[in-house]
Amino acid sequence: MSIEVRTATADDAPGICIVYNQGIADRVATFETDPRSPEDIAHWFTSPEYPVIVATEADRIVGFASTSPYGSRACYAGIREFSIYVHRQAKRRGIARKLMVSLLAAAEKAGCWKITSRIFPENTASLELCKSLGFRVVGTHLRHARLDGEWRDVVTVERSIARPDEG
Ligand SMILES: CC(C)(COP(=O)(O)OP(=O)(O)OC[C@H]1O[C@@H](n2cnc3c(N)ncnc32)[C@H](O)[C@@H]1OP(=O)(O)O)[C@@H](O)C(=O)NCCC(=O)NCCS
Repeated sequence: MSIEVRTATADDAPGICIVYNQGIADRVATFETDPRSPEDIAHWFTSPEYPVIVATEADRIVGFASTSPYGSRACYAGIREFSIYVHRQAKRRGIARKLMVSLLAAAEKAGCWKITSRIFPENTASLELCKSLGFRVVGTHLRHARLDGEWRDVVTVERSIARPDEG
């Protein structure tokens, strides 16, 4: 089966939640511990300024990449945080790479100049994915927050997005 990558719509929310909730349950990627419902993520699909991309295989969602605001200050308007999750049974097939390439293009189209994320140091898959896409490691926040009561470090990564007006 071939993988298709496209902009997500509100109808994709149930499929996205299945993949996201696997990631939350696996405890490898996020401080979140509560599973999400389609209603919880309905706001993801309300603005093209915050692109969400899905990967599908035979009409089933096998991964997604989403963006959220970096901060509320106007000076940070062109920075996005991103998240990416691939279905447990669909990993190591190049899906995350396809999603990120599409997300970066959509973020550029939306006028963004930088994309960033915070990753657990133990999350080799995500760190390697980012490295392979030209992200740089900014640094490590020590004991940044608690997951299941345990203090965890996070590595911040960033990548500039080429903008035609900047050459
Ligand atoms: C991180 C994740 C999104 C990667 O998805 P994927 O579809 O398996 O990744 P791809 O097959 O596109 O791999 C792209 C690159 O990522 C890196 N990579 C992916 N999985 C890896 C692993 N298990 N170990 C080391 N590197 C890995 C490699 O550089 C790989 O390139 P290569 O195949 O040419 O070596 C997936 O493991 C996942 O969903 N993890 C849980 C959620 C998560 O950690 N999200 C990131 C934080 S928001």
